[in-house]
Amino acid sequence: MKFVNNLALGLFLACAGPSAAFAPATVASSTKQTSALFADVSIGIFGGGTVGGGIVEILEKKKEYFEKMTGNTLNVKKICVRDASKPRDFELPEGCSVTTEYSDILEDDSIDMVVEVMGGTTQAKDVVYDALKSGKNVVTANKALIAAYMPEIEKLLADINGKRETAVEFRYEAAVCGGIPIIRSLQSDFVGDDVQTVSGIINGCTNFMLTAMDRDGKSYDEALSEASALGYAEEDPTLDVGGFDARSKLKILMRLAYGVDVEEDDIPCSGITELTKLDFEYAKMMGGSIKLVGVASQVDNGDVSAFVSPCYVSADDSLFAVNGATNAVELVSKNLVCTTLIGEGAGRYPTANSCINDIVALAKGDKTPLPFNPASEDTKYEGDYSSDFYIRLKYKDCLGITRQCGETCEKYGVSIHSILQNPIKRKADAAFVLITEKVPVSKIKQVCAEMESLEWCNGPAFYMPVLGENWATAMV
Ligand SMILES: NC(=O)c1ccc[n+]([C@@H]2O[C@H](COP(=O)([O-])OP(=O)(O)OC[C@H]3O[C@@H](n4cnc5c(N)ncnc54)[C@H](OP(=O)(O)O)[C@@H]3O)[C@@H](O)[C@H]2O)c1
Repeated sequence: MKFVNNLALGLFLACAGPSAAFAPATVASSTKQTSALFADVSIGIFGGGTVGGGIVEILEKKKEYFEKMTGNTLNVKKICVRDASKPRDFELPEGCSVTTEYSDILEDDSIDMVVEVMGGTTQAKDVVYDALKSGKNVVTANKALIAAYMPEIEKLLADINGKRETAVEFRYEAAVCGGIPIIRSLQSDFVGDDVQTVSGIINGCTNFMLTAMDRDGKSYDEALSEASALGYAEEDPTLDVGGFDARSKLKILMRLAYGVDVEEDDIPCSGITELTKLDFEYAKMMGGSIKLVGVASQVDNGDVSAFVSPCYVSADDSLFAVNGATNAVELVSKNLVCTTLIGEGAGRYPTANSCINDIVALAKGDKTPLPFNPASEDTKYEGDYSSDFYIRLKYKDCLGITRQCGETCEKYGVSIHSILQNPIKRKADAAFVLITEKVPVSKIKQVCAEMESLEWCNGPAFYMPVLGENWATAMV
């Protein structure tokens, strides 16, 4: 099953979701009756920037619709920002005040729900923890916070809810892939299924850059400054180009799909900084393209391995045609076989849309007692992932290169599938590519280290996984 456009995505939600639109409108226990028809749900938002502004706009625009849907009037009562005097690019709702004091929201007993869209992992952590402790439901878009503190948040929720009659809820749909409903999908639509592989283009900035470099022939620097100008890059772009943003998201998806908690640093992570024009030329020669992909998959014994890396993606892969800042997540599973969710991974309205879905679900009284899904007792994490690999080696011309490559690979048990060589345009760029059969990455590292020490090797070897079992047959 593949859903590759907005219409299909809509259908997916309508067909596969828990029939949210038809659920009876239950009034959240902490809401206050303000009229004969509707109770009042008061919301405090931390952050009035890109996402915060979008949330306020959508809540105001669809107020009546949400009243009918939830039985509650959703009121943004206070917004906390860093600088209250800064002009805002959205209209403040009637009766809403702007503050710089956290306590104005956290200690306001009339506020039922806190939406944290200010970012960071220090003050945002205090805000989220304090809100939960004071019995307020929390919605956040903060993947960095969740990736860094997931087990701690889980424990905090268990401690708090163990002492309460009505559980406080924690929702974070916007934290992974912005507008794509991947969190709720993994929480509710794969419960009877077994996910075998999660692979995704989960960083819009790098996908935008790789598309610009591959399709439009832009240099790395040109692509990065264009991505920054369009607001696709994080404040510190190392998080994007180094693969670290994608790794935080993959960590969250792994917990939801497999029940495993992995330290982020234990997930092998390579960014896009070592890619050169040559790699795009070879990828074209092979008929595919290069994408930064996060992959987590079940290995033969049921354990899970993972990595974030630029990957060769063949033309028949559903990730191949995902260009620009678009995100996509492909789930291969036992029952559904193959499901791909594609959409906007960032931006004001896509991200706010996901926050709104969480807010409305809470206002309806929907429950998600285990926001990270149950932990698995027996699934272990395997750090040494296996794949077919692409190894690019720059060389100085001499005799015996092919023989030495063969000998080095044989020494480490690496089987070579093919050797590719483009016509040499500049001597300094002379390079060839080895494609290997499936092998653990540790072996590839050993092969690369040994090849780099050989006399003909002209600089560091570069390797990346080749995705898909059938990449060779998809070659043109
Ligand atoms: N933008 C996206 O496309 C996107 C996508 C997915 C997830 N997210 C996540 O959503 C969150 C918000 O992102 P954003 O793009 O909306 O950020 P943003 O445009 O920079 O807005 C941040 C807002 O938070 C306020 N703020 C920041 N630090 C604060 C502090 N210490 N105390 C009080 N207020 C503070 C800022 O106040 P001032 O306005 O006064 O400076 C600003 O209004 C982040 O966690 C981000 O990772 C964003």
